[in-house]
Amino acid sequence: MRTIFPVGLFQNMKTPFYYYDVELLKATLATATCEADKYGYKLHYAVKANFNPRLLKIIADSGVGCDCVSGGEVKAAIAAGFAPENIVFAGVGKTDDEISLAIAENIGCINAESFPELEIINALAAEQGRVVNVALRVNPNVVAHTHSNITTGLAENKFGINYEQLSEAIGVVERAENIKLIGLHFHIGSQILDMNDFVALCDRVNEIQESLYNTMRLTMSDINVGGGLGVRYDAPDEFPVPDFAQYFATYARHLKLREGQKVHFELGRSLVAQCGTLITKTTLVKKGLTKQFAVVDAGMNDLVRPALYEAYHKIENLSSDASEEVYDVVGPVCESSDVFGKDRELASTKRGDVLAIRSAGAYGESMAFGYNCRTLPYGFLSTDVAYEQAE
Ligand code: LLP
Repeated sequence: MRTIFPVGLFQNMKTPFYYYDVELLKATLATATCEADKYGYKLHYAVKANFNPRLLKIIADSGVGCDCVSGGEVKAAIAAGFAPENIVFAGVGKTDDEISLAIAENIGCINAESFPELEIINALAAEQGRVVNVALRVNPNVVAHTHSNITTGLAENKFGINYEQLSEAIGVVERAENIKLIGLHFHIGSQILDMNDFVALCDRVNEIQESLYNTMRLTMSDINVGGGLGVRYDAPDEFPVPDFAQYFATYARHLKLREGQKVHFELGRSLVAQCGTLITKTTLVKKGLTKQFAVVDAGMNDLVRPALYEAYHKIENLSSDASEEVYDVVGPVCESSDVFGKDRELASTKRGDVLAIRSAGAYGESMAFGYNCRTLPYGFLSTDVAYEQAE
């Protein structure tokens, strides 16, 4: 399914903005759910990837649960219609207010990431006279082949309890009267395309499960393996929907489950990246001594991934099919890193052309900020088009 852009409409609209292809989002959700259902896996959407309220509602309506990492995300998820019992809540530094909110809302599970946090959750649950479901987030020390800023499962990362300290953590939980330990939680990183990384996680989970059983006769009811499935930034039209079949089959093949265990996934990027595009216009073309710059009206504040992770996003000139020229596509923000792409071949562009920065649905709008007093980009849905054109 190729995203069709209403270019004529965009030409008359104020840019920059995010454009979301709702049909593609729904098709992606349907494929992911169908593939997960084959194995009885429970899918959660990682709200951090994109919390545009209208997208969140579409995602909630698809029947998946969600994964939150702040009190704000828990509130946004509930407002969008996610059932509290389908919400899991992780984070290395949850505040007391955030934990109390999660307890009061009776969410499905809090993923605890440290010893002190277990004590705090127990005390706050006691204050409300509640017993809360908790999973232990385990740092599996598994290498993910992705950008170093987005690996999370190494011993050097701040996330989770080291797996070597797991039995000690279980001891703490056993003394905590207001905590019910229901599971283990893992997440090794993001934008992972090599299935062997997930195999390595499965191997580690199997090893941990075996050791817990052998030493303590302990089996948890819930195993949450996190998210991390990557998307093809280089080829959004050829691969609009990630290979969920291969992803879930990898887990089905390698994860050894015990009687009655439920497996949870927390997918962010793979569900929303390809449906989103940052639409921007060329403000001017500037010819330097060795380079020519296409200066666009979107900046790193609208989409920070290239500046922060040297991330590649495909860029297209939607207004022209003239022969290609080579440009550095740059924003107006006062930072040298405000570059969307260096030495990109782009259909020859001029002032006013509409450009598409592709695969920007995940960690785009949700990471936007207001540097240089710039306004935050808004989200325009493909389903708004008929309405706009009727106006
Ligand atoms: N679960 C946990 C505990 C996570 O930390 C994350 C992402 C996810 C699930 C979802 O991962 P996904 O399926 O989206 O890979 N801003 C970065 C990505 C940061 C990911 C943070 N954690 C980027 O733009 O590449």
